[in-house]
Amino acid sequence: MDAIPDTMRAIDPEAPGGPEVLIVVDRPVPRPALGEVLIRVAAAGVNRPDVMQRQGRYPPPPGAPTILGLEIAGTIVAVGEDVGMEQIGQRVCALVAGGGYAEYAVAPAGQCLPVPESLTMIEAAAIPETLFTVWTNLFERAYATEGDVVLVHGGTSGIGTMAITLCGLFGIDVIVTAGSPEKCAAALRLGAAHAIDYRAEDFVARVREITGGKGVAAVLDMVGGDYLPRNLQCLGDDGRHVSIAVQRGLEATIPIFEIMRRRLTITGSTLRARDTGFKALVADELSRTVWPHAEQGRLKPVLDRTFPLDQAADAHRRMEAGDHVGKIVLTVGAMGD
Ligand SMILES: NC(=O)c1ccc[n+]([C@@H]2O[C@H](COP(=O)([O-])OP(=O)(O)OC[C@H]3O[C@@H](n4cnc5c(N)ncnc54)[C@H](OP(=O)(O)O)[C@@H]3O)[C@@H](O)[C@H]2O)c1
Repeated sequence: MDAIPDTMRAIDPEAPGGPEVLIVVDRPVPRPALGEVLIRVAAAGVNRPDVMQRQGRYPPPPGAPTILGLEIAGTIVAVGEDVGMEQIGQRVCALVAGGGYAEYAVAPAGQCLPVPESLTMIEAAAIPETLFTVWTNLFERAYATEGDVVLVHGGTSGIGTMAITLCGLFGIDVIVTAGSPEKCAAALRLGAAHAIDYRAEDFVARVREITGGKGVAAVLDMVGGDYLPRNLQCLGDDGRHVSIAVQRGLEATIPIFEIMRRRLTITGSTLRARDTGFKALVADELSRTVWPHAEQGRLKPVLDRTFPLDQAADAHRRMEAGDHVGKIVLTVGAMGD
């Protein structure tokens, strides 16, 4: 294995701004602390929160690197004091609180999952952020389970495509919304049971029609604002509403008596700020529940496009243009080892 250099190429903008601030700079290679591993990054996933961080609207939590990037795949090249040396050389993907757009990144050992033969490094890098988010929100907070029908907004987003994939693996019917007929067709091809073009149709009426008036068991919402009361109308009795983003607004007016009458639950969460202990617990659960599907080739992320690290600005431009279906990934280093 090659020696670990002192410096590396990374995307670490000095000030917020447009995609043009994403230039490659030299940064010190981080050193793994207690409980951490150092990963030579092969590929890094791009997520909407990276765009918000770049714009200055989503600062990294205290202690997290300012280098962008919340998920990586690569090879462990060094370990912190209490991590077994046998980990060195392992191919892993990891959820990180920052630092992914770089040649090297540290990750808590507990937040790594092994990359099985069935996944390329690019595919593996596209999984952790959406997998952890969809699992903890749709499956844990909203208790989605076999036989349920659920509604997921943004059906062709990174999050939405992971939701379709996971629902397929666990026997859940998923209705999605998307902003064009092309995106709806893509969502149906990926396995959504129904796709509603929210620009052309009223999703509340369509959901009630599709479910025969019964409503869905859960809504995974990344839209917020005035979607909230409309989402509640889509829920059946005892339905669960989970907020993971507020793209249309931070505030909503909700019908309290309706929540009481139909025993609805309103909840939500943000992943990045959760502590390492929580994320390690989720990784442990995923390794038992979902990762066997990945090992058998049944869990594949939906890939939109890849860009080399030095074209990270173009990767963000593609995400902001909103034409992507699935995940955008940066290729960083060698894919083989
Ligand atoms: N809470 C958490 O822990 C957490 C973690 C990760 C991500 N997130 C959030 O999840 C969302 C998706 O992330 P991603 O990385 O998958 O991003 P992405 O691929 O860029 O997807 C964003 C999606 O939002 C949809 N959208 C935007 N404005 C909309 C509107 N007004 N009405 C309906 N849909 C709208 C778009 O769908 P159309 O093009 O079809 O309109 C698009 O598919 C982001 O908002 C992100 O911040 C939250």
